[in-house]
Amino acid sequence: AIYYNHTLYNQTPIASTNYDRLEASAKLLLNPAAYNYAAGGGGLEKTVVANREAFDHWRIVPRVMRDVLPARNLSTTLFGRTYPAPIVMAPVGVQTLFHPDGERATSKVFGELGLPYTLSTASSTGFADVAASNGLGNPRWYQLYWPSDDDLTRSYLQTALDNEYEVLVVTLDTWDLGWRTRDLDQGFFPFILGVGVQIGLEDPVAHQKLGFNPLAPNATQEQKQTAALYHTVVTSRGISPVWRNITKLREVWGERPIVLKGIQSVEDAKLAVQYGVQGIILSNHGGRQVDGAIGSLDALPAIVEAVKGKITIGFDGGIRSGSDIFKAIALGADFIQVGRPILWGLAHEGEKGVRHVIKSLLAEFEITVGLAGYAALKDVQVGALVKNTWTN
Ligand code: FNR
Repeated sequence: AIYYNHTLYNQTPIASTNYDRLEASAKLLLNPAAYNYAAGGGGLEKTVVANREAFDHWRIVPRVMRDVLPARNLSTTLFGRTYPAPIVMAPVGVQTLFHPDGERATSKVFGELGLPYTLSTASSTGFADVAASNGLGNPRWYQLYWPSDDDLTRSYLQTALDNEYEVLVVTLDTWDLGWRTRDLDQGFFPFILGVGVQIGLEDPVAHQKLGFNPLAPNATQEQKQTAALYHTVVTSRGISPVWRNITKLREVWGERPIVLKGIQSVEDAKLAVQYGVQGIILSNHGGRQVDGAIGSLDALPAIVEAVKGKITIGFDGGIRSGSDIFKAIALGADFIQVGRPILWGLAHEGEKGVRHVIKSLLAEFEITVGLAGYAALKDVQVGALVKNTWTN
């Protein structure tokens, strides 16, 4: 598939095709608290920087005069479904902070392109509404922030299944929030801007536990505040899940795919194989949790060496261009996820900006694969890269 052909040059795009210029214009459009919430990371933000720098530790060595026309085959199979490209929407909460259409816009565009859309537990739009905008039959994944209450966990998973979310992504690195200094300094947590965690607010078991429905027309302001606190603080924070609890998820999720997000160490990748999950996502949450953590791409080769072929390996953190995608795939990732670039796109007129950003990434990736001398994704291997030993 050619996602954007060179008629692109005859049009002025809705936003820049360069990540840094895209972020700069999004910053001008956004509430400063929302911008800082998304742009920031833990502590001194060393991990945010490390995620991007890690891509400079590898360089592509292009090949020429190879049969790569007319178009590159970027398709890939993940958990039994074939996708046009190995690109997945990273789970990102409270997207109405960036545009009123929020998750509706992002899920719609990923549905159009046939790429997996991951709904966050911290979503500002509920399961059913996102399923409707994503579209019937399109690939939807659900990301769980694992509640401390098992009844609530079961209820979330059941609602996800009822709305045809087919892969469960369990985020393990955020059982408490990282030390996010921008948010601490601005006294900001999304619900202060009036953005609620809709999945929790709509949940029938949560209503039972609370003793009221915070979305009912007669709910008081105090009840709404209690519910917001319950969902953002109590239900998904403060417990640190342990490996053996994966069996509890299986009680509802059955044998469907479970993917553990937030894996950074080789030991944890091996444990994921041992505990029988179908996938891992190598991620440091975009540098938002442990400041000083290893740059995501720097952690990839050792994990690939340990578990490649035994489990599906996803990757996120710092992907900003088609060339970045190329490097992650060449190093052995089975798929990659994109976070912040989509949010900056969303800030530019909602779905239009999202479409622009994701189509640009697809196009740049495809052009890079071809110009590097490869016709298909399966040929993009570590031999396409060389370690950069001359600038660091
Ligand atoms: C996130 N991320 C995230 N992860 C998750 O599992 N559940 C969530 O609700 C969120 N929410 C969230 C909000 C915002 C504003 C950001 C920037 C990130 C982390 C996300 O899934 C992913 O790991 C990173 O964003 C990937 O890094 P890049 O692409 O942003 O560099």
